[in-house]
Amino acid sequence: MRFFIFFLSSVTFAQNYAEDSYKRGQMVYDDFCVRCHLPGGTGEYGLIPPLASADFLQNVKATIHSIKYGLHGSITVNGVQYNGSMAPMGLENDEIADVTNYILNSWGNTTDVIVTEAYVQEIKETK
Ligand code: HEC
Repeated sequence: MRFFIFFLSSVTFAQNYAEDSYKRGQMVYDDFCVRCHLPGGTGEYGLIPPLASADFLQNVKATIHSIKYGLHGSITVNGVQYNGSMAPMGLENDEIADVTNYILNSWGNTTDVIVTEAYVQEIKETK
């Protein structure tokens, strides 16, 4: 019985965290991302890759890495090649967690993953 109660309360905790993180992430998106990736996460065909329904986001680790350390050079998103450059924006790890939760759950994107600050902290730079 105790286990059951603990399980229920941790689910509630995760849901509350996810909802609050999503709302904070929307503010981060509007401050830092929208000018390039645009409202609706559409990007600009051939210039700025989309976030809406983007296959790239299925790799959550690579998604966080690109926000944390920037992304340069050739990538393919939804079958379209991009060869641009995104500089890191100097966000804190908790802000990166929030904006990742936002983009992973917006514009038709869905995921079971809830990103935490501790998870972002663990992702080290790889070339
Ligand atoms: C100055 C324009 C600019 C800003 C601001 C910007 N990006 Fe990007 N972003 C790009 C470009 C250009 C690429 C593709 C880089 C390449 O071709 O290697 C990219 C790639 C990405 C990718 C991987 C490819 C994809 O579209 O799935 C993600 C995820 C991403 N950006 C998220 C964000 C988030 C989140 C923010 C805000 C915190 C942000 N970007 C801010 C220009 C920008």
